Amino acid sequence: MEETKHNRDSLVIKTSIVLPPDTNNLGTMFGGKLMAYIDDVAAISAMRHSRTNSVTASMDSVDFLHPIYEGNSVCLEGFVTYTGRTSMEVMVRVIAEDLLTGERNICAISFLTFVAIDGNGKPTPVPKLVPQTDMQKNLFETGKHRAEIRKKRRKDTELIASTFGADLPW
Ligand SMILES: CC(C)(COP(=O)(O)OP(=O)(O)OC[C@H]1O[C@@H](n2cnc3c(N)ncnc32)[C@H](O)[C@@H]1OP(=O)(O)O)[C@@H](O)C(=O)NCCC(=O)NCCS
Repeated sequence: MEETKHNRDSLVIKTSIVLPPDTNNLGTMFGGKLMAYIDDVAAISAMRHSRTNSVTASMDSVDFLHPIYEGNSVCLEGFVTYTGRTSMEVMVRVIAEDLLTGERNICAISFLTFVAIDGNGKPTPVPKLVPQTDMQKNLFETGKHRAEIRKKRRKDTELIASTFGADLPW
């Protein structure tokens, strides 16, 4: 029988406090640092789902909705929301909390795609995701459309890459 997994099997939660080395000159968190956290959480989530080595194939746009201040806690939650044959879409939600007042803000939501890789570095099938709650079912059903958009975007990127090549631009 085909192996299946639920969304909860891939849930990853990471909470950190924002310290000075993670911030810019405005005292708010570096976007690049947050993106690294997002990729980290999503990679663990994909590997919990597939139980194989998995690589980041793409990260959809990240809108930074709210600044995250030094001293805030930043909590990232990720889980697999859609599966293709060898690919997994992971959604990561980022919530910042002012630890003194308790105010919480959602700072970013990002979708990433990971591909499971076999021992020869080739894409390998992943367990099919079986969503259970209404929210999980909605994310799964809309996931197919997001995957199609990414396929088209990848083609566009490949065309641009082949046009520019790897030589220095000038
Ligand atoms: C991602 C990668 C494994 C795809 O390998 P490939 O041989 O081109 O594989 P395919 O074209 O057969 O695609 C395999 C799956 O990945 C998906 N995929 C490939 N590129 C994708 C992209 N840019 N975004 C989303 N999905 C992508 C395909 O849709 C397919 O999904 P499916 O099997 O669920 O239908 C390969 O391009 C790679 O190794 N890239 C570098 C990854 C990496 O190093 N990441 C770290 C960043 S530094």
